[in-house]
Amino acid sequence: MSNPPLEPSTTPPVPVVLDVDTGVDDALALMFAVRHPAIDVRAITCVAGNTDVDQVVTNSLAVLDALDAPDVAVARGAEQPLLGGSRDARHVHGADGLGGQRLPSSSRMPFAGGALELMRMTILDSPDPVTLVSLAPMTNVALLLRAYPEVKENLRGIVAMGGALEGGNATPVAEFNVWHDPEAAAIVLASGVPVTLYGLDVFSRVVVEAETYEVLRDDPDPAVALAGRLLAHSHEVIRSDPRVGHGGLVGDAGAVCSVASPGLLTTRRWPVHVALAPGLTRGQTVVDRRYVLGEDAVHGVDSLGHLVDVAVDVDHEATRDLFLTTICAGPQASHGDDTARAVQR
Ligand code: RIB
Ligand code: CA
Repeated sequence: MSNPPLEPSTTPPVPVVLDVDTGVDDALALMFAVRHPAIDVRAITCVAGNTDVDQVVTNSLAVLDALDAPDVAVARGAEQPLLGGSRDARHVHGADGLGGQRLPSSSRMPFAGGALELMRMTILDSPDPVTLVSLAPMTNVALLLRAYPEVKENLRGIVAMGGALEGGNATPVAEFNVWHDPEAAAIVLASGVPVTLYGLDVFSRVVVEAETYEVLRDDPDPAVALAGRLLAHSHEVIRSDPRVGHGGLVGDAGAVCSVASPGLLTTRRWPVHVALAPGLTRGQTVVDRRYVLGEDAVHGVDSLGHLVDVAVDVDHEATRDLFLTTICAGPQASHGDDTARAVQR
């Protein structure tokens, strides 16, 4: 299903650092990010979430091989959330985090330093402000902002797959990335860096139908064939969910699509509060959509949260088509080999 190469964009590509817990849909996001000409992947950092952080590193490197991706630094980050232990999502992503794809181990070596060092160096060394795309629990991002607050000066913003207006997946009310490390999410939302929250409400709507992903599976491009298998795995996992059960979710890749093409997403700027108290609501993103002052403000009862651009709608068909066109366009010329080599020194 190869398509003509994407038209080169007239605007310079967006410098991006991706923080991932690869992950079936993180793998799809890596594919899109590496192959879209409007995205300049400067670094990839790994964090515990869907699976343990070492498996995340292994998976991310293996996916880059399948993509025949240019050199890009990949670093190991936090192996646990800020509080408590790591609780993986292997029932969704499989024991290996990639739905059992058994990709060959990569000969690529991870960045010698850790994720925080790579993020700090990449962001501070960038001549243009960087967009930090968080597709995982926000542990690395929170630690970065606390340890090296100076990076805020060269961050264009944070696009985070996380949270939800209505309902959860990890619990009835909490989305997995926020639920896995609620304190980290709270730190990121309170950081003062502009945050766009790509939550479950839009995450769950971008689907590739079975008749399409079955074609991808037979594509001669190993990356496209892998995408087909990952989408088939995603569909198998969610088949019983009436809201999304008609195909495989592109998941995290949708958040990266919105970075390449912001018009795909409709957002509203509302205060968002992360519930931290132990119990059923821990990890819930409480979005304050009120138009009038409440008694909580009048009586100073509680923090009203921090202003966040919350995704409320997505052009799910255009996002699906952008994802498919991009990954089927084949490898793109790398944006910055010198940058890649520089950060790997
Ligand atoms: O809740 C969905 C999110 O949790 C996605 O990022 C998925 O990869 C997992 O990390
Ligand atoms: Ca993820």
